[in-house]
Amino acid sequence: MNTLSKTMRSTAARSSISSAYVKRTLTSTTSTSSPWLNVPEGPPDAILGLNSLYAADEDPRKISVGVGAYRGSDGKPFVLPSVKEAEKQLIAQDLNREYLPITGLPTFNELACDMIYGKNRDVPLAKTQVLSGTGGLRVGGEFLKAFGNVNEIYMPDPTWGNHGAIFKRCGLESKTYRYLNRDAQCLDFDGMMEDLKKLPNNSAVLLHACAHNPTGVDPTSEQWAEISAVLKPKNCIPFFDSAYQGFASGDAEKDAKAVCYTTLVIVFISCPTFLIHASLFLKTETLAFSNIFFF
Ligand SMILES: Cc1ncc(COP(=O)(O)O)c(C=O)c1O
Repeated sequence: MNTLSKTMRSTAARSSISSAYVKRTLTSTTSTSSPWLNVPEGPPDAILGLNSLYAADEDPRKISVGVGAYRGSDGKPFVLPSVKEAEKQLIAQDLNREYLPITGLPTFNELACDMIYGKNRDVPLAKTQVLSGTGGLRVGGEFLKAFGNVNEIYMPDPTWGNHGAIFKRCGLESKTYRYLNRDAQCLDFDGMMEDLKKLPNNSAVLLHACAHNPTGVDPTSEQWAEISAVLKPKNCIPFFDSAYQGFASGDAEKDAKAVCYTTLVIVFISCPTFLIHASLFLKTETLAFSNIFFF
């Protein structure tokens, strides 16, 4: 193995490789004709940039609201006692770390389904483990593109900043429907319904199951019922991003209502992100799974 690939492999193991890093490394170790020198540097991530500014700020009154994860009153990540206990139990089991089936750990998938749909569900669900919420969106988007007969996905305006970029990689064009009334800072339900009613049949529609990011504004149960009644006759495919189940009301079961209610009437896909639920940030990636369900 040459010096370059050794350097890159060890760095990749420690952290993700920034293109600037690659450029510097390659410039110092290879000829100027290397094709990798043309790798463009990606744009900085606004949220991660804010985190760096936050870390550098010495004001004791600072509060970070940039990352949707539990924090203690000291501003540091707060790991739930249940997560610590689960960790202990897992380590005590001394598992053999065998390869998993392609769709992940079956018990994990079952329990994840229980969490979002409840134990007494009677709908058939296909489920697979994926890597975090972002991975769920990517796999779900690619699935939609490959098998859902759609080329575009309708997203609320505004939505989480990465949705458009993820779906673009899946070959889906992002379109929007009205969501926030910016003057009144509340749900523009009439605007949303007007736009949803105009969607072509069979459209894919991204919905936030609860704790809509970035607004925190969610439809009520009655409004979900109306949304469902509009989408179902059009055979639309709701794609629920369920990143924050439990964060909106403090009750995971209650927060699953939109998804559960809607499952009774429409086909859907969803992806709870356990990375966020269980404050697993900074942990190994093997813990960072979420699920996609559909039926
Ligand atoms: C709405 C939404 N979906 C998905 C994600 C991505 O989740 P993960 O960090 O598990 O990839 C986030 C994370 O901020 C989010 O806010």
